[in-house]
Amino acid sequence: MNDEGDIKKKAIFFGFVLVVFVAAGIIFYVFYLSPPIEKTYVQKWMEIEASRLPQYGSPELCSKCHFEQYSLWIESEHHSSIQCENCHGIGMKHIENPYDGNYMPRIDTSREFCGICHESIPPRDESSAIKTVNLSTHNPEYSCILCHLPHRT
Ligand code: HEC
Ligand code: HEC
Ligand code: HEC
Ligand code: HEC
Repeated sequence: MNDEGDIKKKAIFFGFVLVVFVAAGIIFYVFYLSPPIEKTYVQKWMEIEASRLPQYGSPELCSKCHFEQYSLWIESEHHSSIQCENCHGIGMKHIENPYDGNYMPRIDTSREFCGICHESIPPRDESSAIKTVNLSTHNPEYSCILCHLPHRT
């Protein structure tokens, strides 16, 4: 009886010690030996995603180098309600790299470009926010900017 009890107790004791060692080993591995996967990769991934978002500037930033256009635009009656990048495209990369041809803002002088906002289409005609014209009948043979200067309008 006694012997059997002793063996049982010892078995339980060693079993317990074994479990403690294994658990300590796992904890030691996870916190001290294994490479810190989560932090570096998640952070890198977040940086890459953030850099993909379009980076806008602002008219005030543009004005540092294009003061002439800025001062006409800010005084303009109508187009001062939209900003430079609505017409010239997203501009932060250009602000940071002003001489880099890859990031040059676009200049579009086509009638179709002005039509993006001004072409007469039924739902737009009913709202008074933006005046519309029929591109095929409103002075069709000329460029819009011959009569309406974009920065002064
Ligand atoms: C740090 C100075 C700087 C800032 C800020 C800047 N630009 Fe420029 N921008 C330049 C330079 C330099 C050129 C190239 C001029 C050239 O090659 O004739 C240029 C060219 C341009 C052009 C093309 C001109 C052409 O003739 O093709 C446009 C449009 C333009 N910028 C708009 C903007 C807008 C909009 C902003 C604000 C979002 C802006 N720029 C901010 C310096 C700047
Ligand atoms: C309604 C659209 C529109 C807005 C808003 C606008 N531009 Fe322009 N921008 C144009 C067009 C169109 C041209 C080409 C004009 C031309 O060829 O005569 C141009 C030309 C330019 C040029 C080339 C030099 C020149 O004067 O021809 C620069 C630089 C420029 N814009 C900067 C700006 C800046 C800075 C702002 C904001 C303060 C701005 N633009 C706002 C449409 C716009
Ligand atoms: C991103 C949209 C947008 C683009 C692109 C745009 N405009 Fe406008 N335009 C507006 C808005 C908004 C108004 C009205 C602003 C207000 O009344 O305060 C306006 C007003 C005008 C007006 C005055 C209309 C009136 O009430 O008498 C003229 C003219 C005009 N734009 C011509 C042009 C020309 C020409 C171009 C192309 C170079 C152009 N617009 C490109 C948004 C745009
Ligand atoms: C030959 C000169 C000329 C050309 C080219 C021209 N317009 Fe006009 N536009 C005018 C005149 C003149 C008016 C009437 C002015 C007014 O009533 O204030 C006008 C009026 C407008 C209006 C105001 C309409 C309203 O209901 O009050 C808009 C918007 C406009 N034009 C946009 C454009 C666009 C966009 C283009 C190019 C697709 C363009 N225009 C080409 C001369 C021109």
